[in-house]
Amino acid sequence: MKHVLVTGADGFIGSHLTEMLLEQGFFVRALAYYNSFNDWGWLQDIRHKNLEIISGDIRDPYFCKHSMASIDTVFHLAALIAIPYSYIAPDSYVATNISGTLTICQAAKEQNVKRVLITSTSEVYGTAQYVPIDENHPKQPQSPYSASKIGADAIALSFYHAFNLPVTIVRPFNTYGPRQSARAIIPTIISQIASGIKEIKVGDVTPTRDFNYVLDTCRGFIELAQCEAAIGEEVNICTGKEISMHDTLLRIAHIMNADVRFIEDKARIRPKNSEVFRLLGNNEKIKKLTGFTPKYSLEQGLHETIQWFSLPENLKKYKADIYNV
Ligand SMILES: NC(=O)c1ccc[n+]([C@@H]2O[C@H](COP(=O)([O-])OP(=O)(O)OC[C@H]3O[C@@H](n4cnc5c(N)ncnc54)[C@H](O)[C@@H]3O)[C@@H](O)[C@H]2O)c1
Repeated sequence: MKHVLVTGADGFIGSHLTEMLLEQGFFVRALAYYNSFNDWGWLQDIRHKNLEIISGDIRDPYFCKHSMASIDTVFHLAALIAIPYSYIAPDSYVATNISGTLTICQAAKEQNVKRVLITSTSEVYGTAQYVPIDENHPKQPQSPYSASKIGADAIALSFYHAFNLPVTIVRPFNTYGPRQSARAIIPTIISQIASGIKEIKVGDVTPTRDFNYVLDTCRGFIELAQCEAAIGEEVNICTGKEISMHDTLLRIAHIMNADVRFIEDKARIRPKNSEVFRLLGNNEKIKKLTGFTPKYSLEQGLHETIQWFSLPENLKKYKADIYNV
């Protein structure tokens, strides 16, 4: 697995994964979403002798097939990921997440790719029916985003069953860290506080989450890619710890030494039956398969993230004063 393709490499997790793969000696073909500005997202400033950046669209079969020439392993992370946007543009989620994953699988099959890692999400489980959530937990499509990921996972697994395509469904729970877009809770809070805002706007703060630091998530991906026994499997990446949004906010405010007030912004509240109230993962399967355990505590991860957001050159890339869907 020397030559790898990372889709969504211009994004938050994909850019960290690209860097980690380069550090480990891989040749990385990194797919950035085509746009007329030739903007490579978070890859913009990354240069490396083993890095080839290409621009394109996962919905295009011809493009995908060519992007996989001489590739051993595909890390498929490209997706539309915002839950609120999936309420108003669900068709795009079906096209990008389901049809896009089909295109990736079809291209991988035609190019005889040796491993295909498909990125799922803990959102597919919906509000926990039991905890900790293992890979056998029922899937509950509580948002069009979740539904599109359930569909994408199913398409990929069908390629494993029908055509022996060596697929692994990698299922990270909420991931945070430098470069995350401000639609997620942790960067929303940090970017507002770092911008000097005193009344911090939040949605419902009662749900709990199992937060992975991004470098742990990326390590999980790479370990699964090297594990033969993970072929045909769905595997959680999680810490096995949960914290409410409310306690997360307090922890961030404490670390940032901020005297702030949290106020509920109605626009940020999800429809009641769509909100996922509890996510707490079971990571026994990945531990058993690869020996993986997370290295970062929430405290350490938050410190790293806050430090990064506090640098003016990073903070200026965020619009802290508006609600980012
Ligand atoms: N961030 C999390 O908490 C989290 C948790 C679980 C799973 N995931 C999954 O991880 C993956 C990466 O998420 P992220 O948080 O880095 O989000 P992100 O939005 O930063 O990255 C997704 C990338 O996909 C690219 N993309 C979108 N449509 C495309 C298309 N048609 N063709 C090519 N590229 C396209 C975008 O340019 C973007 O950079 C996604 O599959 C997401 O569902 C994320």
